[in-house]
Amino acid sequence: MSARVLDDIGLLVTNAPELGEGQLGIVRDAALVIEGGEVVAVERAGADGDERIDAGGRCVIPGFVDSHTHLVFAGERADEFAARMAGRPYEAGGIRVTTEATRDASEGVLRELTARRRAEALRAGITHLEIKSGYGLDTENERRLCEIAAEFTDDVTFLGAHVVPPEYEGRPDDYVALVCGEMLAACAPHARWIDVFCERGAFDAEQSRAVLEAGRDAGLGLRVHGNQLGPGPGARLAADLGAASVDHCTYLEDPDIEALAAGDTVATFLPATDFSTRQPYPDARRAIDAGVPVAIATNTNPGSSNTTSMSFCIALAVRDLRMTPEEAVAAATLGGARALRREDVGRLAPGARADAVILDAAGYADLVYRPGVPLVAETLVAGISAG
Ligand code: NIG
Repeated sequence: MSARVLDDIGLLVTNAPELGEGQLGIVRDAALVIEGGEVVAVERAGADGDERIDAGGRCVIPGFVDSHTHLVFAGERADEFAARMAGRPYEAGGIRVTTEATRDASEGVLRELTARRRAEALRAGITHLEIKSGYGLDTENERRLCEIAAEFTDDVTFLGAHVVPPEYEGRPDDYVALVCGEMLAACAPHARWIDVFCERGAFDAEQSRAVLEAGRDAGLGLRVHGNQLGPGPGARLAADLGAASVDHCTYLEDPDIEALAAGDTVATFLPATDFSTRQPYPDARRAIDAGVPVAIATNTNPGSSNTTSMSFCIALAVRDLRMTPEEAVAAATLGGARALRREDVGRLAPGARADAVILDAAGYADLVYRPGVPLVAETLVAGISAG
């Protein structure tokens, strides 16, 4: 098999502490040897290979793993965003606005919009992502959103329990029964995960537990949206059920932190959401210091976080969530992989997929130090340049 070499890397983040310095496993003046789309070795710069990609002495990090996105939707909500900036609070009900636009869009249009957003994310260095349904909210529309999402990733999440749609207004338990029955049966074949928005204005703890248990019985892994708009039961429910991740975590209280620290549920922070909804930022420092595994993700969606920029999320995570640059880079790569329970992405070590980002910088701290500057110079997916 022919070897490609990503050569002349000034500073390589492997996320494999056994390969280099510190938590990020940093190797200086390095080369990545790639065969069959996988990393086979980390060597000194100048390693032999059949084909050579020149990093020009710059910093190379693992591709970003975005473990929380809602990429399949139609319409936008810029007016809602503007109203928020003028002082209106974020409310879960905006999801219904996007649901209406998404239901009205053809499959072709939704596919095209999703492809455009996926390409934008790739340009931003996101080499692997999760995609949720959740803007269909009836069986046929949720199924088609899962099917479209599956064209872009193998980490598809069924989120029929996003909010109660208008036709079930006042009858949330009937809607939960639909989600757990016919809708789950239609969506599970296209999904790896099930998720529920466990929050005031969406689903309570009992309803959320019912949804998650039904998903688990159907063979899906568990994810939870929780503790976004206020303290609530989401994080503890996720820990109790052994969910892979609880996402948002803007309002974590001591019992939540204790429950998460005792298990392996990842607390996934979505800092661009807190930015876009003018919410307080979560205290990631407190969670990390207590031993909670953490990730950060973009939460790309038209309501609460219309961005595909993981670099922006990293900058916020350091500036406002009080992570160190090392913790933030790890959370956006290895943390995302862990939140998706994957070993093949999020690190640049033998056996991992050769998903890498060449930064237009000598070090990863520039992602924070030079906020808003497009520092992703080149992205490799399975060793192949994706531009
Ligand atoms: O993760 N919190 C629930 N769902 C999305 C928001 C979706 C929307 O407002 O359209 C989120 O923030």
